Amino acid sequence: MISMKEVWKKYPNGVMAVNGIDIEIEKGEFVYVVGPSGAGKSTFIKLMYREEKPTRGDILIGGKNLAKIKERQIPLIRRNMGVIFQDFKLLPSLSVYENVAFAMEVIEESKANIRRRVMNVLEIVGLKNKARFYPHEISGGEQQRVSIARAIVNNPSVLIADEPTGNLDPDTSWEIMNILEDINNRGTTIVMATHNKEIVNTIRKRVIAIEGGRIVRDEAKGDYGYEK
Ligand SMILES: Nc1ncnc2c1ncn2[C@@H]1O[C@H](COP(=O)(O)OP(=O)(O)OP(=O)(O)O)[C@@H](O)[C@H]1O
Ligand SMILES: [Mg+2]
Repeated sequence: MISMKEVWKKYPNGVMAVNGIDIEIEKGEFVYVVGPSGAGKSTFIKLMYREEKPTRGDILIGGKNLAKIKERQIPLIRRNMGVIFQDFKLLPSLSVYENVAFAMEVIEESKANIRRRVMNVLEIVGLKNKARFYPHEISGGEQQRVSIARAIVNNPSVLIADEPTGNLDPDTSWEIMNILEDINNRGTTIVMATHNKEIVNTIRKRVIAIEGGRIVRDEAKGDYGYEK
């Protein structure tokens, strides 16, 4: 499903953020990416959805090599991936419904079908009753749920998350995790960078630890492994 071979990333300022990563992630896996601040977790995640291009190495996702594709092919690749961030990144002038519908690939799709699909994903994240609200009218946890709905509206095979609970209180973080587990149980592969020790040590999944741009640990049902 996702395969990285000898991947390196050097930023234009000379920082080597990823130093020869090899990894295989199978379809349907749930993977936590942990490690100290500055370890290269976000860079690793960004390489996966081609926000950053590797300096060296191959990144195969669903048979396509992200290191080799042309700029104009990027949207095609991203159609098959959902991405969520710590700061939600919703469009403030659009309603909850519109934020999700806006992300939908609507090639020759009827209005009724769009509506059905958007309401369906809003139901999955428990926000059907807030479809008309605007981002500033809902809580942080609800905003993150909208961003999850937006990320899954095109039925991606991979969901990538960079500290999705980073801005949320503990209760809300658990709610978000329930939704992500639910999505994973429906077959979506999930890769999630996190600093949340409690979550990693409670909802046990594969753990990849990155330090200095290298994978230093890769464990099935692993633990967080750091003090905080
Ligand atoms: N756009 C950039 N240009 C130059 N250097 C960068 C850039 N983004 C990140 N870096 C550097 O690359 C290294 C890895 O950063 P990265 O953001 O991947 O770490 P991280 O593990 O996600 O950290 P955190 O836990 O704080 O989010 C750091 O040294 C960082 O300063
Ligand atoms: Mg980061």
